[in-house]
Amino acid sequence: MTSSRVSGFYNWTLEERLAWAARWADLTDAETAALAGMLGLTLGQADRMIENVIGQYTLPLGLALNFQINARDVVVPMVIEEPSVVAGASFAAKLARAGGGFRAESTPPEMIGQIQVLDLTDLDAARSALLAARERILARADETDPVIRRLGGGARDVDVRLLPDTPAGPMLVLHLIYDCRDAMGANAVNTACEALAPLIADITGGRVGLRILSNLADRRLARAECLVPASALAFDDFAGVDVARGIVEAWAFAAADPYRAATHNKGIMNGIDAVALATGQDWRAIEAGAHAYAARSGRYTSLSTWSQDPQGNLIGWIELPLAVGLVGGASRSHPTARVALKLLRVQTARELAEVMAAVGLAQNLAAIRALATEGIQKGHMALHARQVAVAAGAEADEVARVAQRMVAEGVVRPDRAEAMLTSLRSERGGT
Ligand code: MEV
Repeated sequence: MTSSRVSGFYNWTLEERLAWAARWADLTDAETAALAGMLGLTLGQADRMIENVIGQYTLPLGLALNFQINARDVVVPMVIEEPSVVAGASFAAKLARAGGGFRAESTPPEMIGQIQVLDLTDLDAARSALLAARERILARADETDPVIRRLGGGARDVDVRLLPDTPAGPMLVLHLIYDCRDAMGANAVNTACEALAPLIADITGGRVGLRILSNLADRRLARAECLVPASALAFDDFAGVDVARGIVEAWAFAAADPYRAATHNKGIMNGIDAVALATGQDWRAIEAGAHAYAARSGRYTSLSTWSQDPQGNLIGWIELPLAVGLVGGASRSHPTARVALKLLRVQTARELAEVMAAVGLAQNLAAIRALATEGIQKGHMALHARQVAVAAGAEADEVARVAQRMVAEGVVRPDRAEAMLTSLRSERGGT
């Protein structure tokens, strides 16, 4: 199987969808069971993961389809409790596919570790001393993780920042730039920073305070872009170029207004977080990095950019820090996260970050396309109506019929679903 373009997937039974996923990634029975949640994390594994464990907590795992990223068809596992997100990503991926899919790229996986130095009488002299000792500092940092070194990663550079005016007085911050390869890198960077502390105190004559990585991972960026032909955006009475213009206007609102940008970026993170959760990433680190990056100019703004080309086609672009890993942490220890990574068929952390950037852009497109046209509630209503129909006892094709009738009527309530189900059954009984 090579195409992620599947129509009507949501109409299949859950078992059919799971079987399709198993074929897509050539999964063993145990891996398939891990996806279904039957052989996922055991209580024993959970107990070794965090403290004071008393149980487990599950969330839905869905697949976003239709993605093409760097000319490769990609099936995207997403873990999320919010309806419409998986459908939105799949729909937007179909739109982008009409323009050749997403192109994505990333910078080398360099994280920043921070070492705080206090009690300095001359900040500039301390800075010069540290920069002069760059090679010694890098060599010491590189002693801490021979495995990452062997894999081609390790300490890359040092940077010194002065904070002359903080509530606790002047301080200096040494940044250690560290290539984490396929690890998220928090452990490696924190270990290196702690190991460096005595040397930094020695060189500067100051007192070392904090030694910890920064989540503003602005040297570990992922970017994605897409072109959606205007013709692909047309629907009902909406002309494609007008939809594209509406999307650009929606983006302009977020570009100019932090109140709107927060919601706009939340929509982007709906997609990115869902992949992060599915693949066992530290999604709080990703969230922190994304929002700090969105505020890097001093004013919080949109993480994405949308414009139209001279033909009216829509062009989207996104860039954000994505500190993700394929080794260590839950990406390895959580059985379902391992299978989710297998479904994605990514070989490196950079590839995973590129997929996540494309998913974030798709999620953003789905949200602002709906907001700029029919509004967000219509799509939500259609999905919500299906859930209400199921709760009312609808089965098989009754679900879609009852849901469609409720949406057409504009009333989505359990009592209406029950009444419609009764009348549908009696109509059928009578034929
Ligand atoms: C809801 O989870 C996300 C949206 O609010 C995003 C947006 O407004 O762009 C729909």
